[in-house]
Amino acid sequence: MSNHIKVFSGPTDKKTDTVADLGKEKYFFTYTFGCQMNENDSERLAGQLRSTGYQHTDNMEQADVILINTCCVRESAEKKIYGKIGELKRLKTLNPNLVIGIAGCMAQKDRDKLFKKAPHIDIVMGTHNTHQLIELLQEVEQSRDKVLAVWDQAERLAPEVPTIRKNQISAWVPIMYGCNNFCTYCIVPYVRGRERSRPLQDIVQEIEQLGKEGFKEITLLGQNVNSYGKDSEENVDFADLLQAVDKIQSIARIRYMTSHPRDMSDKVIQTIAQSSKICKHFHLPIQSGSNAILQRMNRGYTVEYYIELVKKIRDLVPDASITTDLIIGFPGETDELFAETLEFIKEIQFDAAYTFLYSIRSGTPAASMDEQIQLPVKKARLQQLMDIQNEISLAINRKSEGQIVEVMVEGPSKNDASRWMGRTGTNKIVIWDKGEECIGDLKMIKIMQAQTWLFKGQMV
Ligand code: SAH
Ligand code: SF4
Ligand code: F3S
Repeated sequence: MSNHIKVFSGPTDKKTDTVADLGKEKYFFTYTFGCQMNENDSERLAGQLRSTGYQHTDNMEQADVILINTCCVRESAEKKIYGKIGELKRLKTLNPNLVIGIAGCMAQKDRDKLFKKAPHIDIVMGTHNTHQLIELLQEVEQSRDKVLAVWDQAERLAPEVPTIRKNQISAWVPIMYGCNNFCTYCIVPYVRGRERSRPLQDIVQEIEQLGKEGFKEITLLGQNVNSYGKDSEENVDFADLLQAVDKIQSIARIRYMTSHPRDMSDKVIQTIAQSSKICKHFHLPIQSGSNAILQRMNRGYTVEYYIELVKKIRDLVPDASITTDLIIGFPGETDELFAETLEFIKEIQFDAAYTFLYSIRSGTPAASMDEQIQLPVKKARLQQLMDIQNEISLAINRKSEGQIVEVMVEGPSKNDASRWMGRTGTNKIVIWDKGEECIGDLKMIKIMQAQTWLFKGQMV
């Protein structure tokens, strides 16, 4: 391959044969880092390849095309991805016709720098160019140049492309793209662009179709689902969308990710309270339990507001589970301010918390803030927080011992194939001894033993 980089500007009118037309078996392999949004994008990358005749393979060595869909939310993700890209060099040496493509958020951020760091890459495609995969592949195959397709801004809504879903029971459905919040630590608004909501009718149609295909659970995806509709001319909000999806008979469970506490409306909480299908699980990332830090993070709410919000949820949806995200060691987090977070998690009693060490993202406001926290301090705080939270999670879960809960069966347990794994509406994992084939069914399971992260149960 040449070292020339071609900047891909848009669709061409070249007639190109599909792989199937050429009568060759060709294989693709995808590897995905990051959030559910990225997982769903990978399903759309796979869908485009399958519709042009490529077959999926789990064996990288057999692949003609390898795509890495990347994340850059923290430095640790980027390090792992560069490691993975490095590993591909060997395969490229063995098979010079192998096409290596890098997609997603890190591709959007690092752009042509990726070709310099790893000259064995052929395609770099940004988050707004996912739908162009086939044209980019054809460009590489014809010109043997490297191809760069990274648009700064998205089209309002990218053209729909085929989707090949990994899971046959549970499907991800994006309802909006991008984020307008600019939390000071976060790279996402820079790599995913401004908020763009899909038309309500398109979303409903996609879910109706998924129902016909046998899917039982859907997860509505967006960086901030509570702002759904704010950017569009339709006079609809997230609660309206939930109500519309709730009416689709064939779908048994509705989930959504992620909601910003500031935008969680009473109407959404009431809609969830009244529905039997929308899961009673609220994931509301607080990020810090200190008002001083929340302000520096530009989160747009206070600890007091959040406490009130949780109270409202628990009043209206008494059996709800509440989970959160927390960033440890944000610039300016003193021992005293960190202690406020510890007090806060004791007060709220979250079912679970996902904890992250603050990671400097260059170009974001927090990266140039004073008082960056040293890594050993961050790590010690993380441990302290996790110890407390794990105790809380276990104590909450123990209260369910002896209860009978409704679980959607997802498949064999990853650690023990002789058991089924399923999830409660509150998003807790349950495992129990296998009986008859029942993937996708709702089953009543008695909780026998609670652990921090899962339940062991028994069929009733
Ligand atoms: N839009 C979602 C999630 C975005 S990223 C939301 O606002 O909730 C998922 C999580 O990663 C965030 O909730 C945050 O806790 C964490 N995160 C984002 N940027 C980070 C950074 N620079 N360092 C550490 N954690 C970060
Ligand atoms: Fe990042 Fe904040 Fe947007 Fe979430 S809401 S994606 S944390 S900027
Ligand atoms: Fe990562 Fe991009 Fe998602 S940065 S968390 S893959 S939006």
